[in-house]
Amino acid sequence: MKIIVYKNYNQICDLIAKNIVNKINNKNKSVLGLATGDTFIGVYKRLIYYYNSSKVNFNNVITINLDEYIGELKFENTYKYFMYENFFKHVNIKKKNTYIPENMSNISKSVNNFQQIIKNHIIDIQLLGIGFNGHIGFNEPNNQLHANTHVANLNKSTIKDNSRFFEKGSQIPTKAITMGMADIFNAKEIIVVCNNIKKINIIRKLLENDLIDTKYPVSLLKIHNNVNLYILYELYDKIKDNIYNNVIIL
Ligand code: GLP
Repeated sequence: MKIIVYKNYNQICDLIAKNIVNKINNKNKSVLGLATGDTFIGVYKRLIYYYNSSKVNFNNVITINLDEYIGELKFENTYKYFMYENFFKHVNIKKKNTYIPENMSNISKSVNNFQQIIKNHIIDIQLLGIGFNGHIGFNEPNNQLHANTHVANLNKSTIKDNSRFFEKGSQIPTKAITMGMADIFNAKEIIVVCNNIKKINIIRKLLENDLIDTKYPVSLLKIHNNVNLYILYELYDKIKDNIYNNVIIL
């Protein structure tokens, strides 16, 4: 895992977006693995900027999202809506090329459909955020983790963390369909960003040794051979004396 420390969020989003633009321009039918949450909004903004500047064309691009809530929820609270509002509606990507698990009543059909999509594609670049409890996608800390796409029961802490996206009094989902660990690990390159000082304990735990632990799903990324982890300087500064790995400071 390569650890890159950055000082400026906009700059790092631009760097990641440029990397994605290069990939798209050099390869017909690039497959992007996308994430929701606050972390990558800046990257989507830069991709939209490069599209508007005619530096990139999404006509042949395929996207696959990590996860989606399931159960009864307003469309505005779905990850489908998030992706549409923050990215898809601003560029020329084809709707049929954007894959997100479907929140339908036949859940096992939705899981199987999504697993098939994952099997049919190899993701070139996977964007990945880290949950406050160390989850990736919705692979929650546990004694055992799933390799494949599955229905995840969200931890109490995750439900609480994500309640910030929901109106007061509205029902917050407790389940989601998520890529499993093997699905994520199938990506050729994984880009992880931690831009939130409140995730310091997770990053400390991740970088203080070379251990992997299913109770910190993000730590399994140490097994993958092409992971770039970008962490905010303020965060790095507080834990630098306990970091086991080499870091690159931008
Ligand atoms: C949700 C998503 C995760 C994401 C996490 C972090 O839980 N399922 O994939 O990594 O949010 O979100 P944020 O970027 O807002 O910190």
